[in-house]
Amino acid sequence: MNAVAYHLDPAHGLDGLTVRGQDVPQPGPNQVVIKVRAASLNRRDLMLMDGSYPLPATPGIIPLSDGVGEVIAIGDNVTRAVLGDRVSAAYFVRFINGPQRLAHVAEQYGANYNGMLATYALVEQDSVVHVPEHLTDIEAATLTCAGVVAWAALTAPVSVAQGETVLTVGTGNVALFAVQHAKMLGARVISITSGPEKAERLRKLGADETVDRSETPDWDEKVLELTDGLGVEHVVEAVGLPTLSKSVRSAGYNAMITMIGASQLPKGQPLENPFVGPYLAIRRIAVGSRDQYEAMNRAITEHRMRPVIDRMFPLDHAVAAYRYFRDDNPFGKVVITMP
Ligand SMILES: NC(=O)c1ccc[n+]([C@@H]2O[C@H](COP(=O)([O-])OP(=O)(O)OC[C@H]3O[C@@H](n4cnc5c(N)ncnc54)[C@H](OP(=O)(O)O)[C@@H]3O)[C@@H](O)[C@H]2O)c1
Repeated sequence: MNAVAYHLDPAHGLDGLTVRGQDVPQPGPNQVVIKVRAASLNRRDLMLMDGSYPLPATPGIIPLSDGVGEVIAIGDNVTRAVLGDRVSAAYFVRFINGPQRLAHVAEQYGANYNGMLATYALVEQDSVVHVPEHLTDIEAATLTCAGVVAWAALTAPVSVAQGETVLTVGTGNVALFAVQHAKMLGARVISITSGPEKAERLRKLGADETVDRSETPDWDEKVLELTDGLGVEHVVEAVGLPTLSKSVRSAGYNAMITMIGASQLPKGQPLENPFVGPYLAIRRIAVGSRDQYEAMNRAITEHRMRPVIDRMFPLDHAVAAYRYFRDDNPFGKVVITMP
């Protein structure tokens, strides 16, 4: 097998993604070499290509934060992994636990540290995370970004409690993970989507109620109706400013709205004041820590949860995978598998 790595030239969109041969990396004292088996795409990987991601990609970087593989070499000081372990890496190179600091978000795999779209990945041992055993490689390659941010939204600063109601917006990967995680936490889930087919799939995934926004554009009113006028306790706002006002109107007293989606309002459309309704909290978060990733994995293991996979592409069709992910409105993760 010839080892290869994709490299990203951020100024050129999909044309900036090129493939070259790769030597087996040599680990430094605190580093781990992974032979990657599968990797997956997130919205940020498209944003890194067109320069709209807050952290610019380093030209030539190996893209993708999400991936899984086998440890094939370790540095002299490595204690977090042994040869043969099946591992992934956390999203941030050095965010272990506690409150997130600006320095944590400044170091990310697939942006300014080489990521997973390659035969081999070289990662810092502090970021190594073992993946749930019951998952296939394809499933285990989907957790790092969308999975962890959905988990962080629902479990910090205070976890969703049994019987509380969680609202999810959209059917991107963050929202799909949020539905599954919220069910693992014992919540009732109401999900907003754009059509009956997606609504059906959301219900199969665990959503207790769905609201079709194409049929019910004022979906916030329906959410209030479904909650006896009280509103939901948590919103995983996985779209962004275009839906924030409705999310606020769907929320109850002292609710927590977690803004994950980065969509902006159409030009010229003003943002409604979100602080005129009930007293509630609105916060933005960026993925999560290694500890949060591990806590999520424990819950996934306990509940035998399986992430939603839309489609797989072989490594030599990585550009087609990006194109499909960008253009074809997948429901679930788009995964790239290594030979
Ligand atoms: N902060 C973080 O750590 C973090 C991590 C991961 C992702 N993100 C961000 O989170 C967002 C979600 O990413 P993703 O990959 O999960 O999903 P995505 O693919 O961006 O989600 C798109 C889905 O959102 C829904 N949607 C889009 N526009 C909408 C609108 N105007 N009104 C209502 N629904 C709308 C649609 O679902 P339906 O067709 O079902 O309505 C659509 O399929 C992105 O902005 C991404 O950049 C942030």
